[in-house]
Amino acid sequence: MAARQEPVYWLGKDTLKVSMALFAENRRRLCERLRANTGVPKKSMVVLQGGEQTQKYCTDTDLVFRQESFFHWTFGVTEADCYGAIDVDSGKALLFVPKLPDSYATWMGKIHPLGHFKLKYGVDEVHHTCDIADVLSGKSPAVLLTLRGLNTDSGSICREASFEGISRFQVNNILLHPEIVECRLIKTDMELEVLRYTNRISSEAHKEVMKHVKPGQKEYEMESLFQHYCYKQGGMRHTSYTCICGSGTNASILHYGHAGAPNSKTIEDGDICLFDMGGEYYCYSSDITCSFPANGKFTANQRAIYEAVLKSSRAVMAAIKPGVAWPDMHRLADRVHLEELVKIGILKGSVEDMLKAHMGSIFMPHGLGHLLGIDVHDVGGYPEGVERIDEPGLKSLRTARVLQERMVLTVEPGIYFIDHLLDQALATPSQSCFINNDVLPSFRSIGGVRIEDDIVVTASGMELLTCVPRTVEEIEAFMAEGCDSKAFDH
Ligand code: GLY
Ligand code: MN
Ligand code: MN
Repeated sequence: MAARQEPVYWLGKDTLKVSMALFAENRRRLCERLRANTGVPKKSMVVLQGGEQTQKYCTDTDLVFRQESFFHWTFGVTEADCYGAIDVDSGKALLFVPKLPDSYATWMGKIHPLGHFKLKYGVDEVHHTCDIADVLSGKSPAVLLTLRGLNTDSGSICREASFEGISRFQVNNILLHPEIVECRLIKTDMELEVLRYTNRISSEAHKEVMKHVKPGQKEYEMESLFQHYCYKQGGMRHTSYTCICGSGTNASILHYGHAGAPNSKTIEDGDICLFDMGGEYYCYSSDITCSFPANGKFTANQRAIYEAVLKSSRAVMAAIKPGVAWPDMHRLADRVHLEELVKIGILKGSVEDMLKAHMGSIFMPHGLGHLLGIDVHDVGGYPEGVERIDEPGLKSLRTARVLQERMVLTVEPGIYFIDHLLDQALATPSQSCFINNDVLPSFRSIGGVRIEDDIVVTASGMELLTCVPRTVEEIEAFMAEGCDSKAFDH
């Protein structure tokens, strides 16, 4: 008899095979943590509700489904409208899938038997969602642990599992969230492999864009090229967030690309392109920004700003290791930026005094970087006991944690010329005293530069996941090669 294949997620060709062992390991770690928590009663069961298939407003048009992140982390299930449960004591995993009407077979395809999902996801039992209350009752759990907790990036509360008949059970919605968040924070080897893949494909897609960009094109053409590469070469149906393709002064708009500013400008000769785009594979993210001149050659001013940002990026990377507090990395980036802006001539005076006057946040109002995983702004930034620092710039940090091995983060310093922040600073004597306003005006049209890489904290430092041309020389040489070498078949 042929050996049974272990279940994997795979989209064929050169896409990554992801073993369902990744999710078994996640569940095992979660149960271990819960069992170590003396507040969790014996005979507890975790119950999670997966994402629902939704429609476009009041129409019957389905939106492209993407699994809810906690559910994905735990079960790796791609279908909508499921539930999952785990017996904490034994680690046994149960999946509940919807009982589909016959019409499903006409419109949507084959209705699979329950055994199909058991094999596909490597779980212990599969039942229909309509039977969930009876099936769970049969296990006589002491308590159902449901997921309720704050997402510290959005301010939203995650939706806890609910089903007909849940009132028959003892439910605790407090215990699970902090424990599963701590598990998601620390990536396993199998998760790191997926994140290396999302970074590899997204890095290649950025390079494809750099090879094809030309003044006269629209920003959205570059968005389209990135998405096409990620999907065609990498099987990435989703990006991790809306693509930010700012050129010229749009580079100073931190979250450009939204409906009111939809990557619709024509890219001009002399523009810096600040393209922040990341592909997502099997719900694992990437988040990469490349900043480069549209015409392939930096001006002296553009180069000066770019190299200032690269210097802070590399200073931070050299300092990252377990035990380092993330806000200190933000402060380090600010310091390097201010030192370099003095050398360039935009700022004057003592950098120590500038730091006290929060000058760093005028040029980098966002945080240095954030946790990355299944969500691009991954959960766990501010657990109980980790406080947000209420200072300009630092308050935008999505985490103030001390770094630990196997955390994955972005390192994304930037220097931006944001008119309203510069004008405010010029109108504030305690800040304007540091600004050479005869030098500053010629830099405003640059818009901004951000260099964003994804890293893993290792035992002694970090591993860089992103691989794109980064120095001025590398970028100019790469862009000069043009689109003839390694042309991607569009
Ligand atoms: N693209 C969003 C961010 O860099 O955090
Ligand atoms: Mn980004
Ligand atoms: Mn980011």
